[in-house]
Amino acid sequence: MSLEFGAKVRRIPVYPAADGYAAEGPVAKLASNESPYPPVPEVLEAATRALGGVNRYPDPTNAALRTRLADRYDVPANRIAVGNGSCDILLAAGDALLEPGAEVVYAWPSFSVYPHLAAASGARAIEVPLDDDHRHDLARMREEITVATRLVVVCNPNNPTSTALPLEEIAAFIDDVPRHVAVILDEAYCEFSILQDPDESIGLLKKHPNLALLRTFSKVYGLCGLRVGFALCGSEAFRTAVDQVRQPFFCNAAAQAAAVEALNHQDEVARRVERNLAERIGLEDGLRRLGLAPAESQANFVWFDLPEADEPAETEREVLKGLAERAILVRSGESLGRAGALRVTVGTEAENERFLEALAVLL
Ligand SMILES: Cc1ncc(COP(=O)(O)O)c(C=O)c1O
Repeated sequence: MSLEFGAKVRRIPVYPAADGYAAEGPVAKLASNESPYPPVPEVLEAATRALGGVNRYPDPTNAALRTRLADRYDVPANRIAVGNGSCDILLAAGDALLEPGAEVVYAWPSFSVYPHLAAASGARAIEVPLDDDHRHDLARMREEITVATRLVVVCNPNNPTSTALPLEEIAAFIDDVPRHVAVILDEAYCEFSILQDPDESIGLLKKHPNLALLRTFSKVYGLCGLRVGFALCGSEAFRTAVDQVRQPFFCNAAAQAAAVEALNHQDEVARRVERNLAERIGLEDGLRRLGLAPAESQANFVWFDLPEADEPAETEREVLKGLAERAILVRSGESLGRAGALRVTVGTEAENERFLEALAVLL
């Protein structure tokens, strides 16, 4: 007899993990929007020191990290949620806000974890197609908000399409969202955007108790392997709710210590942003030389359609297979709702060149 799982298991999509993690040799990992640069030595030392004390549970209140974040962003510590990656907070928000009969609105294609929110809770997912420039269509998203809506998620810059909207447009949208609807502005990649200073959106919290800004140490800080993210919330109630629905000790001691130290290295953040920009321009130029048209990126990845084909999904699979055979991992567009497209993380110069050379052969 086989096990009988609940309806949740039938609803929740399996996360589309890229193959090749166990491969030997120099794999170009361009599938998960990671940083190609390891943490600075001081961050590694802080994490290592914390490892010496792992016979104890980590601080369940994440006090040192929340205090440091409160100083850095001028948001009271009681409105800062910490998580085992920002995904942890996202899923907790879904758990806290959604239930059967409720609705969650987000753009599509967007971050592959958003569909889990509805699937896990039994709420209805309202996926609003991006516009022709691969950007959020905020006017249409507003139209989809009803009395049943509990949560709206805006991803800026958007994963997987890399595009961003100016903050004024997002601010006007949030102004127009009814107060009883929670808004999560997922800013996992905001440091890479040159449209505005990433600190600018924090001002919105003063006006909107229903808003939470989701941030992470996984991308520009390069700590995704440790799993630590945070949310800056417009109200204490949001933080309390996302803490309530999770197990205690959701952020491990090494992650907390590394994140505190990483915040001391804003010069390194600036350097990484500059390097990403330079490498991204090289990657985009290379794609254009191949006749491709990447979306306008404000992130550490690029998104483009492969040349038009009768069977876009088939073409995409062939290209992915050819890249994987050359130990180059990128994200499938088909798995993200757009067959015939690819998402490629900006890697080191050598990795980007390796990817471009392989793609030229495969096309
Ligand atoms: C848009 C977006 N939000 C959130 C996350 C979650 O990151 P983490 O859980 O590592 O903080 C990701 C990861 O790729 C992402 O792309």
